[in-house]
Amino acid sequence: MGDGIFQISYTLRDIDKAVVQFWKLLHEYRVFAFSGELGAGKTTFIHHLCDYLQVEDVVSSPTFALINEYHFGEDGKDSIIYHLDWYRLKDTAEAINAGMEDCLLNAERGSARCFVEWPEKARELLSGPYLWISIGSKSETEREMTVTLVK
Ligand SMILES: Nc1ncnc2c1ncn2[C@@H]1O[C@H](COP(=O)(O)OP(=O)(O)O)[C@@H](O)[C@H]1O
Ligand SMILES: [Mg+2]
Repeated sequence: MGDGIFQISYTLRDIDKAVVQFWKLLHEYRVFAFSGELGAGKTTFIHHLCDYLQVEDVVSSPTFALINEYHFGEDGKDSIIYHLDWYRLKDTAEAINAGMEDCLLNAERGSARCFVEWPEKARELLSGPYLWISIGSKSETEREMTVTLVK
């Protein structure tokens, strides 16, 4: 499906180290699709990443808002992150109606990034290149993340 480019295991105690490694290697990508079961740790990882990036806005979970917009300083400029949660979407048509395409277009043009939870709900909307980030539980406390680049 894609080329494996990064793999890491982490607990909540060392998640911030994982975040630093993740961003160092992958910050140039625009679309980040976070896949994994409920409770795998998608939102938790995104929150820690946003803290690391010193996102100004309070990072709330987009459980009710399907689209949250965050801002952070990058190379002296303002950068936008759209945190998208597709959990409650039925299909691609609903995703389009909810405005997801515009967020993805902005990301593909390089003027924003998209962090997508539950990307499998409307996978047709994603076009390469994007990162498929799969998170699974190794135990109560340990998670394994595998990142592949989909071209
Ligand atoms: N290593 C870990 N990384 C992320 N979450 C962890 C880890 N260990 C335990 N957890 C717990 O697992 C849960 C993950 O929830 P959440 O991030 O909301 O999952 P998701 O967004 O994938 O549904 C949280 O309660 C968190 O405290
Ligand atoms: Mg979540």
